Amino acid sequence: MMTEYTWFEGIAFSTIGMKKENLEDIRNKFVVKEEDLILLTYPKSGTNWLVEIVCLIQTRGDPKWIQSVPTWERSPWLESNIGYSVLINKEGPRLMTSHLPFQLFSRSLFSSKAKVIYAIRNPRDVLVSAYFFWGKTNLVKNPGSLETYFEWFLKGNEAHAYRNPLWIPTFVWKISPNTYLCPCNLAIGYLLLVSVVIIYGSWFEHVCDWLSMREHDNFLVLYYEDMKKDTMGTIKKICDFLGKKLGPDELDLVIKYSSFEVMKENNMSNFSLIKKDVITNGLNLMRKGTTGDWKNHFTVAQAEAFDKVFQEKMAGFPPGIFPWE
Ligand code: A3P
Repeated sequence: MMTEYTWFEGIAFSTIGMKKENLEDIRNKFVVKEEDLILLTYPKSGTNWLVEIVCLIQTRGDPKWIQSVPTWERSPWLESNIGYSVLINKEGPRLMTSHLPFQLFSRSLFSSKAKVIYAIRNPRDVLVSAYFFWGKTNLVKNPGSLETYFEWFLKGNEAHAYRNPLWIPTFVWKISPNTYLCPCNLAIGYLLLVSVVIIYGSWFEHVCDWLSMREHDNFLVLYYEDMKKDTMGTIKKICDFLGKKLGPDELDLVIKYSSFEVMKENNMSNFSLIKKDVITNGLNLMRKGTTGDWKNHFTVAQAEAFDKVFQEKMAGFPPGIFPWE
């Protein structure tokens, strides 16, 4: 089981397949081209589904590409060592995937007209999906229980301890209000804080920061919940955004080949080809593919605690923006 992380600007990344120098280069030197298409998500938000849909739109529903080339070669993962080296050497328009938080993404994006699709999912379902997924990999520390992972997810990550030392007494105050300035408690608080690690940082920060781009013409926001409820509507929205006109038969093929059932059987898309040094027994990308599974896993107290944090952290957004609320 993995215990160390690659840290960059207070955000944790897996040490497997990623290195700090690349993360630095991505932010400072990687040049986004106008004709690039970037698929962005916080992990476990339906990234691979989005990749599948976009690939099928590009081939007008023809499944040959998705049935012969793994997801990560069709849309290389920018922050992975392999993905980065492929992308910097690729000529012409590039399709790429990334989970990077806003502040770590290539600065060149912000003066470019490259198209970005940002997919968001109810963080409660993200949490449950992530808990079951990461625990079957060697990419992260295993939290041991959903309860622990729940705590980690709400706290974001230990980055707070580096970013803002005030977080430590605040954190200790929450546990022990009477003795929060005692050096011993501060030390314990620090140790507790640094044991909290969520890769890619906090869902709340990721979504708040990227949503600041939502009014830009080259930035399309999608919600997993809408993709489930109205898959055809979502596919058409993506086609419009990409300037692609597909006929009804072609759209039907996109729906068919990107469906949960078909993706689950497609070895190029279901992660069954992932190297054995990354996965442990029983990794399952295509776990349930539903909305609201969190209700099967959260206790009433956890659901309430989550609501409270969600409302505090997302208070700045207009009502109705998140389809699950
Ligand atoms: P669950 O674990 O809740 O089943 P990511 O690709 O970002 O890692 O997200 C994985 C989640 O997306 C998993 O959620 C997976 O089942 C879901 N998913 C993948 N393909 C899907 C599809 N075609 N339809 C619906 N959900 C899909």
